[in-house]
Amino acid sequence: MDIQTIKFQTTDRSSADIETGCLIIGLFSDQSATEQAAHMEDARRDLLAELDTEGELALGAGKTLMIHRPDGLKARRLLVVGLGKSEKFDAAAFVKAARAAGAALRSSRATDAVCLLTEIRLEGRDAAWKASRTALALDHADYIYSATKKPDSNAPPATGRVAFPAADGVQEALEQAACIAAGIRRCRLLGDLPPNICTPAHLADTAQKLADEIEGLEVEVLEDGQMERLGMRSLLAVAQGSANRPRLIRLRWRGGSADQAPAALVGKGVTFDTGGISIKPRDLMEQMKFDMCGAATAIGVIEAIARLKLPINVDTVVAAVENMPDGKAYRPGDVIETMSGKTVEVHNTDAEGRMILADALTWTARESRPEVMVDIATLTGACVVALGHHASAVMTHDDDLAGELLAAGTESVDRAWRLPLWNDYQEQIETPFADMKNVGGMAAGSITAGCFLARFAEGQRWAHLDIAGSAWVWGKAESASGRPVGMLTQWLMTRAGG
Ligand code: BES
Ligand code: MN
Ligand code: ZN
Repeated sequence: MDIQTIKFQTTDRSSADIETGCLIIGLFSDQSATEQAAHMEDARRDLLAELDTEGELALGAGKTLMIHRPDGLKARRLLVVGLGKSEKFDAAAFVKAARAAGAALRSSRATDAVCLLTEIRLEGRDAAWKASRTALALDHADYIYSATKKPDSNAPPATGRVAFPAADGVQEALEQAACIAAGIRRCRLLGDLPPNICTPAHLADTAQKLADEIEGLEVEVLEDGQMERLGMRSLLAVAQGSANRPRLIRLRWRGGSADQAPAALVGKGVTFDTGGISIKPRDLMEQMKFDMCGAATAIGVIEAIARLKLPINVDTVVAAVENMPDGKAYRPGDVIETMSGKTVEVHNTDAEGRMILADALTWTARESRPEVMVDIATLTGACVVALGHHASAVMTHDDDLAGELLAAGTESVDRAWRLPLWNDYQEQIETPFADMKNVGGMAAGSITAGCFLARFAEGQRWAHLDIAGSAWVWGKAESASGRPVGMLTQWLMTRAGG
């Protein structure tokens, strides 16, 4: 595996006896440490009581304290994580605390740890759930992009191993978490790579390498000639302004029975979105390297599914193109006949995601004959306005499917929220010159994009995920978030029955 995750395991040893680089515990802010330590072994309890009286432990949610050579413990370090108030503590707060622990561990010189966060009481969640969420949070913090930037020679080392107290289901949950973590890392690395490296050809190579490495994962790559013969004029219209030629990539995992129709994931893989002739303003244009995060998610999910060897059939389809302004580029006013036969009048070449997904959805419906189809796309800036960075948007006509996806988001703490896809919005994309236009105006920009896609998913059980706000973290520590790999993997695990 070219991607290295933390290795996770269980331990039966009592914490006072554990020789480890770092022992991780959590404390609520509204109860005394002594009270919370009542069930702990003597050494830990005494140490915490002492720190408590010295006022060292007043930790707010997400704050951490690293104690070196803790008295009475064999651990080299003790990492105390603030959990905030106990009555406010929920699944999201749990993950936030685990992420904070991960950040502190990553910036320490410890290379192994024993994590006792699974001992924290959390209503309705068992040790296996807590172990899985914590493992993913620690692995998330452990990832540091290094493909085009060498780490400092004195940079703290990556975390090699983390052990959790043995309990029912924990070992299995950790094995699963390692597979999911690999898919999340894949998604983040693809997202973070610069657009001169992560081209459509690079996405195809990545898919090819994965298929070579993982037994049972199959790959197929279509190039422009084949796409032309198939009539994918909408996808090709977006690609025609770029020297980086497009690819249509399909990865197939056949863990289920031969006669079971697959679940299909269709990812938007715009490796760079300049906007084309309707060019974007210069500020933040570099962020548009992340416009392939839907594709990275679809690849990350099928990697996780294949590593988990889930007894289910899954197809991942990636439409990989670059959107550039050029003498050959498509232009506003063009009318394009899509593969489905429906015509589209281009009003804005920056609404390119829906153009490529239209053909990708038609092709997937015909070629994969899926039982259910979910597309994943950084589709609209309007989605960031509507939901910010905390939720992915779900749009579908199917209430059951919406319920499944939202539940998977809650379970994995990789959350989503539904937007309506009522027919009332459809009139916004009508035009006298074609069956539809590719933009619907200022109002409800995410929904009219969803309405456009709905016209190409006809007859299928289908949902659209707009991940424009959730796919990457903005600001100084800019990085792909790996979302919603967790949510979609959870959804497929539930479908597979476990
Ligand atoms: N990739 C963008 C959407 C995007 C913008 C994602 C900002 C994340 C942050 C997409 O291709 C796009 O440009 N959408 C346009 C649609 C409009 C022209 C109808 C947008 O959102 O402005
Ligand atoms: Mn665009
Ligand atoms: Zn785009």
